[in-house]
Amino acid sequence: MVKVLGIETSCDETAAAVVEGGTHILSSVVASQVELHARYGGIVPEVASRQHVLTILPVLEKALEEAGLGLGGVDAIAVTSGPGLPGSLLVGMSLAKALAMTRKLPLVGVNHLEAHLYSLWLAGNPPPLPTLALLVSGGHTELAMMRDHGDIQPLGRTRDDAAGEAMDKAARLLGLGYPGGPAIERAARQGEARFPLPRSPIKGSYDFSFSGVKTALRRMLEEMAGPFPVPDLAASFQQAVVDMLVVKTLEAIRSLPVKAVMVAGGVAANTLLRETFLARCPIPVLIPPISLCTDNAAMVAACGYFRLGRGERAPRDLDIAPTLTWG
Ligand code: KG4
Ligand code: ZN
Repeated sequence: MVKVLGIETSCDETAAAVVEGGTHILSSVVASQVELHARYGGIVPEVASRQHVLTILPVLEKALEEAGLGLGGVDAIAVTSGPGLPGSLLVGMSLAKALAMTRKLPLVGVNHLEAHLYSLWLAGNPPPLPTLALLVSGGHTELAMMRDHGDIQPLGRTRDDAAGEAMDKAARLLGLGYPGGPAIERAARQGEARFPLPRSPIKGSYDFSFSGVKTALRRMLEEMAGPFPVPDLAASFQQAVVDMLVVKTLEAIRSLPVKAVMVAGGVAANTLLRETFLARCPIPVLIPPISLCTDNAAMVAACGYFRLGRGERAPRDLDIAPTLTWG
């Protein structure tokens, strides 16, 4: 069985993993920079790249060790080539290129968004195709139809903030710290979604918008006398974001010939989102386990396996595409 080494450094996680046959995780190591960026209240690109440089080799060594392999046991390398922070992407890509060159291994660049979808293949739960894919992370909110491996049709995306970014900004407004999604979820558990926040649906399109609800929360706080009912506000905000995601997804399910819907990306770790999708979608809903929702390199290796299987190889100068979405 082909063993692919995956490398991921597109944002604030330095990760390496070995995956066999595109589905079986032999190792998956993630060094998170969350604490480092928390003191700035968000990701600082320059700090992220430096930290990747510091941790990438120990992370790689640990991934090989946990897989019980040396580099000689790896058959190919897959690396995230975009979208992401350019300085961060370069760290993983430079290592991947150096390894591929010296070990004469096939190398493939992987799209980070597409990689998130492959967390379902790792979870032993590959969706029946065609499937609707909702990707909700800190940098992206994308709705797409996956017809086959390598055949992904984008349907819509956020016109402003990503769902995770909106959660992070709302958490900051509520004084809940970074990363905001998990903090909002924790606070919301003690609260009730009793505040009317707007849903801003974009009619006639599969696009999303989350800036309206964020601004509405800010105005509400400006007009409210403290102390603020933080748990209730967090619950109301979380409910509004989940509602907007579910409503658009249901519209797409009604109009497209999809057999299932998969939800992936960091925000898919949210319990309300998971439960609401499972309760409201009329077709099977597939969501990876929480450990595979956030950034990791196993999903990159899995996606790379299928790309390699289609004969894809990186050109010698492996382009980076920091502003691309799907592709
Ligand atoms: O996919 P990911 O790890 O990184 C990106 O590619 O962006 O997603 C990170 C995002 C952050 O915005 C974080 O606040 C959000 O996912 N997130 C959550 C939860 N866990 C992470 N949002 C809501 N509820 C959660 N439990
Ligand atoms: Zn991601």
